[in-house]
Amino acid sequence: MTHSIQPIILITGATGSVGSALAEQLAQKNIPFRALVRNLDKAGNLKHLNGAELVIGDFNDQQSIVNALKGIEKVFLLSNSSEDAERLQCNFVDAIAKGEVKHIVKLSQFAANINSPVRFLRYHAAVEQKIKDTGLQYTFLRPNLFMQGLLGFAGLIKYQQKFFAIAGDAKISLVDTRDIAAVALNALLSRDNESKIYNITGPEAISHKEIAEILSTVLGKKIEYINVSDAELLTALSQVGFPAWQAAGLIEDYAHYALGEAAVLSNDVMEVTGTVPRTFADFVKEYRAAFE
Ligand SMILES: NC(=O)c1ccc[n+]([C@@H]2O[C@H](COP(=O)([O-])OP(=O)(O)OC[C@H]3O[C@@H](n4cnc5c(N)ncnc54)[C@H](OP(=O)(O)O)[C@@H]3O)[C@@H](O)[C@H]2O)c1
Repeated sequence: MTHSIQPIILITGATGSVGSALAEQLAQKNIPFRALVRNLDKAGNLKHLNGAELVIGDFNDQQSIVNALKGIEKVFLLSNSSEDAERLQCNFVDAIAKGEVKHIVKLSQFAANINSPVRFLRYHAAVEQKIKDTGLQYTFLRPNLFMQGLLGFAGLIKYQQKFFAIAGDAKISLVDTRDIAAVALNALLSRDNESKIYNITGPEAISHKEIAEILSTVLGKKIEYINVSDAELLTALSQVGFPAWQAAGLIEDYAHYALGEAAVLSNDVMEVTGTVPRTFADFVKEYRAAFE
């Protein structure tokens, strides 16, 4: 833990799912940090966190990154997956390579691989390689499917008692974003200067039918999982304005799940944080207000 007033940690993606959990965990530990945000109006909760210093910046704008990096030794790199994500994250890494940063913690994805048929896994692997090429210390966090993704279906679950996907019978060791943030926190605070790769999964691999059964048990009402076709999913996503590149990526992701490639269990959350990762039932109990 650092006691300096001047933050030496910069986090990005702090308005998002993993980044906001990381910001809260840093604040709970009284660790000063700087958060790069694109828009202060979207950073409402962050503004009030203990030890948070906000700086305006965008991965599209090198100078804003250079400014945000002043005095920073450790960074947490995250953006959402989009057609531009590889270019934007590489832009960030280029700026880092010019500064005083010693350690990059990058939020990647489970099974990241430059030869993967899944576009998200290829772009994450390309950014990982770019970071390796800087010669700086790195920690790559490779989480599996986020439990919090189900919050996108909270309204449907609440009012129509159903949710849909194209998962079939695939078992997935999905993980709570707060457990991912806890691993990120430990990596940022670690005094160890070895580079590491962590596979971040929950404690169990479950199918979407089992997800529905757990929701039904915890909420005390029948929730149904509807398995749809790729075409039906694409239509539903385009109707809500979901970008085509990301939608095609989701189809690839689920094809990868169908091969059983996301059912692997890792012990890394326990080994790094000393705490067992949350089960899906834990997640539903803690977010039940969103679903009922
Ligand atoms: N969803 C899953 O199941 C899953 C599983 C494994 C890995 N992942 C990986 O997790 C990452 C997404 O994590 P998340 O869900 O926590 O993200 P998220 O909630 O979508 O948040 C994305 C964050 O990135 C920021 N951002 C986007 N473009 C930016 C730019 N040009 N400059 C600076 N900041 C920018 C956003 O800021 P604004 O508030 O300004 O928009 C936001 O804070 C992706 O890389 C994805 O591949 C996801």
